[in-house]
Amino acid sequence: MKTILGIETSCDETAAGVVIDGRLVGGNVISSQVDVHALYGGVVPEVASRLHIERIVPVLELALSQAGMRWSDIDAVAVTNGPGLAGALIVGVNTAKGIAASLGKPLVGVNHLAGHIYAGWLAEGIPDPAEDPGFPLLALLVSGGHTDLALMEGHGRFRLVGRTRDDAAGEAFDKGARILGLGYPGGPAIERASAGAPHTEAMPRAWLPNTHDFSFSGVKTALLRRAQEAGIYPTPGRIRDGNPVGALARAYQDAIVEVLVKKAVAAANEYGVRGILLGGGVAANRQLREELVQASDVPVIIPPPVLCTDNGAMIAACGSYLLELGRSSGWELDIYPNLRLDYAIG
Ligand code: KG4
Ligand code: ZN
Repeated sequence: MKTILGIETSCDETAAGVVIDGRLVGGNVISSQVDVHALYGGVVPEVASRLHIERIVPVLELALSQAGMRWSDIDAVAVTNGPGLAGALIVGVNTAKGIAASLGKPLVGVNHLAGHIYAGWLAEGIPDPAEDPGFPLLALLVSGGHTDLALMEGHGRFRLVGRTRDDAAGEAFDKGARILGLGYPGGPAIERASAGAPHTEAMPRAWLPNTHDFSFSGVKTALLRRAQEAGIYPTPGRIRDGNPVGALARAYQDAIVEVLVKKAVAAANEYGVRGILLGGGVAANRQLREELVQASDVPVIIPPPVLCTDNGAMIAACGSYLLELGRSSGWELDIYPNLRLDYAIG
């Protein structure tokens, strides 16, 4: 039985998780900074770094006590070392080095994007190991900074087959919510606003034929124009035509979800994969979860919403598999703010 501590500080959640044997979540503590960044309409990097410094030790202690463990029960320390905000990553990586050095245990750097995908291997994603569809899998990773389709040919092996050419899906939700005056973070705000809204608006889709790439800047511009026309943007005080905010949120979410689902299913069919794995913050979206399951011919693995957004358990899960592959890191472990899913640096 191996017990791995996972540390995540790449953006605006200070998080730590304890994972046993790569599958069982012993403790998972997430201290979100979202209320602070919401005041500015988005993440302010220096504020994020300072809040990580303040919160990281209490978050770690709480994760250990949730797991009913002491520091000496930890077999290795996994930490996100990219991609993300440089100052924020440094806090997590240096904390992880301090813990690993003082315990005399291995350190493993984890690619945050791979971490999102490994949330699917936790018992909450694949409850019964016998149901693990095996490889190859297609991963649809949808987060605030990334929208990637990756062919996963084995543990820790990713081949990028599609990516966004402009905005990420989460970024599109965040920008759309800002246009509609719905606040930050945008994904949950748009999801709430569209629930029960009338189907009276339409938004365009960028299909980009003959490629598995995505583009979300066109739908964002269409939303902006329509919001200006309806008097929602830039001053929501002067709304005309009744109140189309809910209907616009619904049409916008429909457009983003339909493109993600149809393009993922097309790629899954083309590569003949045995399953689709959905991960990243946008995977918390209920409509996306339901439509992907409905449209796919192969099993779809989706972690519960709390493991889709940033957390330490997914980093610990990925770290467990990397350690098994012999991929622990040295003390010189650096941060890589622009790390891609298919770059195996750790
Ligand atoms: O993976 P994540 O927590 O952080 C990054 O690695 O970026 O993803 C955050 C993104 C934000 O853009 C947020 O608006 C989006 O995930 N998100 C959602 C939902 N919950 C979070 N998007 C759509 N629907 C949601 N329910
Ligand atoms: Zn993330």
